[in-house]
Amino acid sequence: MRLNHNKILITGATSGIGRALAEHFCQLDNQIIAVGRNEAKLEELAKLDNRIATYKCDLSSQLELDRLVTFIKQKHTDLNILINNAGIQYNCNLLNDTYSLQKVDNEISINLTVPIKLIASLLPVLQINSNAAIVNVSSGLAIVPKAKSAVYCGTKAAIHIFSKSLRYQLENVKVFEIIPPLVDTKMTKGRGKGKITPKRLVDEFIKAFKSNRYEVNIHKVKLLRIVNRISPTIADRIMKRATT
Ligand SMILES: NC(=O)c1ccc[n+]([C@@H]2O[C@H](COP(=O)([O-])OP(=O)(O)OC[C@H]3O[C@@H](n4cnc5c(N)ncnc54)[C@H](OP(=O)(O)O)[C@@H]3O)[C@@H](O)[C@H]2O)c1
Repeated sequence: MRLNHNKILITGATSGIGRALAEHFCQLDNQIIAVGRNEAKLEELAKLDNRIATYKCDLSSQLELDRLVTFIKQKHTDLNILINNAGIQYNCNLLNDTYSLQKVDNEISINLTVPIKLIASLLPVLQINSNAAIVNVSSGLAIVPKAKSAVYCGTKAAIHIFSKSLRYQLENVKVFEIIPPLVDTKMTKGRGKGKITPKRLVDEFIKAFKSNRYEVNIHKVKLLRIVNRISPTIADRIMKRATT
């Protein structure tokens, strides 16, 4: 992949991994369309650099999602990279009273349905441009799940397999998957040890992106995949009781 002179839409660009991706790609001289809900954080991003344009959108609203797609089709027909990064994790199990069916819907929608809908809607734009790519952000939990947050693990496993199948389908658009370990962001605030910074994740991803390595196992996920290959039982035992 060419690392500069792209137009890149990043969902969940207001925080954590998405924000780090937005800043890094901007420094590499790309045009960024940063999507998020938090207006103050979007304004802050826009002030960083005039190559960052922002678009406020609650991705859980079909109406707002449709508006975003129309906006891209009308104003940004040169969009060539879509990064599906926005995600949520409620981190509670189905027996927990606070885990309502509304939350189940929301978690599946943001982590799985919305990325698929965005890809399906924006593919006609992406595929007419050169150096076209889709980047989906899954999780190490897509490979080996933990007991807590079964729905989250399920959505990430689904986006993992979806990305692989889509990669087989598409000829002119490359499909990448970032598979992060525990990263120090708002999502993991107050829990977990040994987290890496979003910047470290981005540095590792960029190297893989440049050399067309499509499934990007970040940091400890590399080790997790080796353990899982040698002994799935040991990998399951390690991850099952993870509190993070
Ligand atoms: N942190 C980790 O350890 C870790 C590990 C594996 C995978 N991941 C994945 O990495 C991705 C980024 O996570 P993160 O850790 O950077 O989390 P984060 O700091 O909590 O950021 C999540 C982003 O998603 C956006 N978002 C959530 N719901 C949205 C909605 N309804 N509409 C629009 N935007 C929405 C948020 O935007 P607003 O704040 O503007 O609403 C925010 O920018 C997620 O897909 C996550 O599952 C994270």
